[in-house]
Amino acid sequence: MSFDFQTPPSRQNTDSQKWQKYAGQDILPMWVADMDFKSSPAILEALHTRTDHGVFGYARPVPSTLEAIVSHHSKHYGWDIDPAWIVWLPGMVCGLNLCALAFTEPEDTYLTLTPVYPPFLTAGRHFDRRAIRVPWAHCNQAWHLDWEALEAAVTPQTKLFYLCNPHNPIGRVWRRDELVQLGAFCQKHDLLLISDEIHCDLILDETLPHLPSANISAELAQRTVTLMAPSKTYNIPGLGCTMAIIANDKLRHHFERSSRGLLPEVTTMGLAACEAAYGRSEGWRQGLLKTLRTNADLITQTLADLPGVHGEGPQESTYLYWINVADLGLADPVAHFESHGIGLSDGNFFGAPPNTCVRLNFGCPTRTLEDGLRRFAKGVHAVQ
Ligand SMILES: Cc1ncc(COP(=O)(O)O)c(C=O)c1O
Repeated sequence: MSFDFQTPPSRQNTDSQKWQKYAGQDILPMWVADMDFKSSPAILEALHTRTDHGVFGYARPVPSTLEAIVSHHSKHYGWDIDPAWIVWLPGMVCGLNLCALAFTEPEDTYLTLTPVYPPFLTAGRHFDRRAIRVPWAHCNQAWHLDWEALEAAVTPQTKLFYLCNPHNPIGRVWRRDELVQLGAFCQKHDLLLISDEIHCDLILDETLPHLPSANISAELAQRTVTLMAPSKTYNIPGLGCTMAIIANDKLRHHFERSSRGLLPEVTTMGLAACEAAYGRSEGWRQGLLKTLRTNADLITQTLADLPGVHGEGPQESTYLYWINVADLGLADPVAHFESHGIGLSDGNFFGAPPNTCVRLNFGCPTRTLEDGLRRFAKGVHAVQ
């Protein structure tokens, strides 16, 4: 079966947050992380079937939904999830925030590596907890972990490590030796590992496996909260269906108690889409990955020919490309590129120094990306 990743669905004048931002302006939105693709036919069919049933009461996952989740992770990552470990959440960001609330006290801190998805930086701020930012080290066109900086940053008040696996926005996949060392680091300092694996089904480098943090060792499994959702890969973030997967009973019960009464139920549509995503959309996902690999290569080639801008490492995963524009010397890179017709994310929100980096969302048909890259190149040449 073939799938269409080249016809852009019209999203103008819809409820799309991404497209509403620039309504009425000739600015192509390549910022917030959803894709300009229809979801898989299996998901659309599941939603139609659910709609035809016509009753939308409070929902609970049925055995076939749990079976789809368990088989997907077992088959692709060798990770055997016990359904009893799953706590359902309406979104990943509330999971990130809840971890800060549940597992730390006011004045505590947690570690995270920057640049990183912005809610990692604010999760503790909502509750008088503080993120300690440790920058990724960058040399020879690749990202490295700075273990010395991590050791120097940790204090007795540090309780958690927030990991993005794989890492948004730099698209880096974690290697086994790094996760093993990270596990030892967490054990040494008695930190819980909060592992956001929302992008794990979007690995572009076929030589790199996704390694679930909780599957690295029995010890690490007992101190890990994995946050997982089908939303990024299958383009259903508007349906709000997320899981915290916690093998440690004590941690899981504490997490559940801390969230009681604060969160709405996962919706019936979210659960139906989740089952169809994990259970019946593998062909679609493979087609998506092919398109994303073509798109990532196109960006890499385009940047190579442009002065003053560069990618910072191989694009190993995700549909989000991190671009260094510091040499352009712009006072406001996002506004500059908007004035040339492309809407990007500001790297400063991810913890990068101001006016140095932007993030481009390439989850779109290749010809939409070509249009975006023409606009981006115009913006670059306008500076010269
Ligand atoms: C690493 C990461 N975690 C979480 C989210 C958002 O999840 P949700 O929309 O379910 O809150 C994103 C969205 O881009 C993300 O990149």
